[in-house]
Amino acid sequence: MAEKDFGSIETDYEFFMAQSTEAESDIEQYVRHLSRFDAGRTSIRWLDFGCGNGEFTQRLLSRLHWSPALLQLTLMEPVRHQRQLAARRLAGFSRRKVETWDQFPDSDEQKFDLIISNHVLYYVDNLQETVQQMARRIALGGKVLLAMASWENELLKIWKAGFGLLGIPVPYYTAEDVEAAWRDLGFQVNKTHSDFELRFPDSEENRLKILRFLLGEYLPRIPIGELLNMLDRYVDGDEFLMETFSESFVIQSEE
Ligand SMILES: C[S@@+](CC[C@H](N)C(=O)[O-])C[C@H]1O[C@@H](n2cnc3c(N)ncnc32)[C@H](O)[C@@H]1O
Repeated sequence: MAEKDFGSIETDYEFFMAQSTEAESDIEQYVRHLSRFDAGRTSIRWLDFGCGNGEFTQRLLSRLHWSPALLQLTLMEPVRHQRQLAARRLAGFSRRKVETWDQFPDSDEQKFDLIISNHVLYYVDNLQETVQQMARRIALGGKVLLAMASWENELLKIWKAGFGLLGIPVPYYTAEDVEAAWRDLGFQVNKTHSDFELRFPDSEENRLKILRFLLGEYLPRIPIGELLNMLDRYVDGDEFLMETFSESFVIQSEE
């Protein structure tokens, strides 16, 4: 599938993050799944797969209140300056040096008690291979926590319409693909919905920020008028309001 460069759309993604309750709602799910995960452990090796600028994980770790003596953080992110910013941002949550990867190293010897990947797996080149790489790195008693949007998510309907206007299938993976990939490997997948909303003062410029975040480098080739009009359905007075949900997945290692 297609990879996506988040470096070139980072301000559009920041706008989405600031105007939506998606992160807050995903965090609620992770906090629930991680309640007492630290109990009785002497260390927690945490891999954040696709950490972006680290803001999401900073908010999550602030909610967890785990001892910095426990945490050992590894951040994987292809966009260099975001990876560096994330490492600086998250340094205070661990007594150990934050490790950073731009991609999986060849060796899979290093195991993790937690692998968290928040809205990332859409964009990997080969989902099956990535899920296998994650599966090989989960320690006994470990967990993988993922958030993804499914075809029922309103934002993915915009993908469908946008790529439809280009005459090509959506070039990214969805929650359905991720669930199937883990099940194919023999893992049980626990799935819950997490509702969120996207709300902002309606204007063409704000609508374009969301379209740039969603469609990235494809947007200049898409007839923009049709797409902008399609967003009319979410407008209420002066406000754009989309109510939708993500899927939260928990996968446990075999014990
Ligand atoms: C929607 S953002 C999510 C960022 C962060 N997890 C959050 O919740 O705010 C997707 C992130 O995945 C990263 N990404 C894209 N392809 C990736 C890959 N193959 N491996 C790891 N991360 C990737 C992007 O650079 C971007 O930072």
